[in-house]
Amino acid sequence: MAQFKCIHCGQIAPASDNYVCTCGGLYEVNHDFGDISLELFDEKLRDIGSVWGSGVWRYKELIHPELDSRHIVSRPEGNTNLYKRQRVSEYAGLDDIYMKHEGENPSGSFKDRGMTVGISVAVQSGAKKVACASTGNTSASMAAYAAQAGLEGLVFVPEGMIAYGKLAQALAYGSKVIQVKGNFDDAMGLIRNGAKQLGFYILNSINPWRIEGQKSIVFEMLQQRRWESPDWIVVPAGNLGNTSAFGKALRELKQLGLIEKIPRIAAIQAEGANPFYKLWHSNEKKLEPMKPDTIASAIKIGNPVSWEKALKSIRETDGVVEQVSDNEILDAKAIIDASGVGCEPASAASLAGTRKLRDMGIIASDDQVVCILTGNLLKDPSTTVNYHIEGVSARYSNKPVVVESDLDKIEAVLSQGNIPALGQAVKHIGN
Ligand SMILES: Cc1ncc(COP(=O)(O)O)c(C=O)c1O
Ligand SMILES: [Zn+2]
Repeated sequence: MAQFKCIHCGQIAPASDNYVCTCGGLYEVNHDFGDISLELFDEKLRDIGSVWGSGVWRYKELIHPELDSRHIVSRPEGNTNLYKRQRVSEYAGLDDIYMKHEGENPSGSFKDRGMTVGISVAVQSGAKKVACASTGNTSASMAAYAAQAGLEGLVFVPEGMIAYGKLAQALAYGSKVIQVKGNFDDAMGLIRNGAKQLGFYILNSINPWRIEGQKSIVFEMLQQRRWESPDWIVVPAGNLGNTSAFGKALRELKQLGLIEKIPRIAAIQAEGANPFYKLWHSNEKKLEPMKPDTIASAIKIGNPVSWEKALKSIRETDGVVEQVSDNEILDAKAIIDASGVGCEPASAASLAGTRKLRDMGIIASDDQVVCILTGNLLKDPSTTVNYHIEGVSARYSNKPVVVESDLDKIEAVLSQGNIPALGQAVKHIGN
């Protein structure tokens, strides 16, 4: 039977809706796994169309073995593709780089993987009202799943700081949207303190069941690679839920004897929202919160709740934490976009970080690297359009041209050359 275990002091508690230990540490789910073989998951690949066809619930035995399947609320999620594009590999300076596109989930981000588990547990526990604080994607996902499950949804977002695609989703799916005058960390504080007073079930990633669902990114990626580990998994890092989930997934797979090699996790932060980077590169024992500032609004977080779990993930996987500038993020995004794959700004921190780690000699040119693209290109159209139209230091901008409605004039413009020579630019920079 699964229990909660405090990440900080190790105290065991019953799995309930209390996610924080008396010592202040977050709980994680402590499973009592039975015998599990990889064939079980390969067998379930045939179950497309049933709930086991979900890229989360296929791994139920590793995520929530005891959940009564009748309570599962699924779109279904996962089954996201692994892409390889030469232009992107060249940009990173690698022979091969794979991008796992979590923006292909039903609501357009990886959040659906944790949300399907969190919502299903909420339904099983009889909750009627669910809530989260969000930089946008969690609210979009929670609103969609709450609507499907017939639950009342309440989302707290930082006023004016979330991308329109995400705000549109939360509104459209019918959750009550509270725009908090403050940043994400302020909204998160309200959620942590307000659950009892306002009577809601918390669906942020302090809820350990969300982390259990997000482990499936690693399970599915490994299954797509015929259970062969890459050398690196590179992931954008904000509230540090994914970094935590990936480390836990790898630890459990290794303990169960299902994988031999543990890939190294590289967590990539934006320079203006880098408290975890600073912690990793210091002798401090505790994360120092900061006021965050980055164009990548999804990772604009100065006080990440899961830092202690994430630290364990980085230590256990011989991982690294790196930071990248907003310009590096946007240029990397332009490369991913122009390869035809596309992603939202925060996602591109993974490619920018890979390129930097390659330049530093930490990643070798023949290392097998999987970058996680966390969200869909359409989530944040304003940042993309601004980059191409107004981006002052945008290296790969694709400026639209205004021409009179006259074919000769259009021909004259076209003869001056089309899109800037993106391929050339990449060859020149890639090493
Ligand atoms: C697109 C995107 N990327 C990255 C992140 C950060 O992920 P984590 O909080 O797991 O570090 C988020 C979180 O909101 C996100 O929406
Ligand atoms: Zn504790």
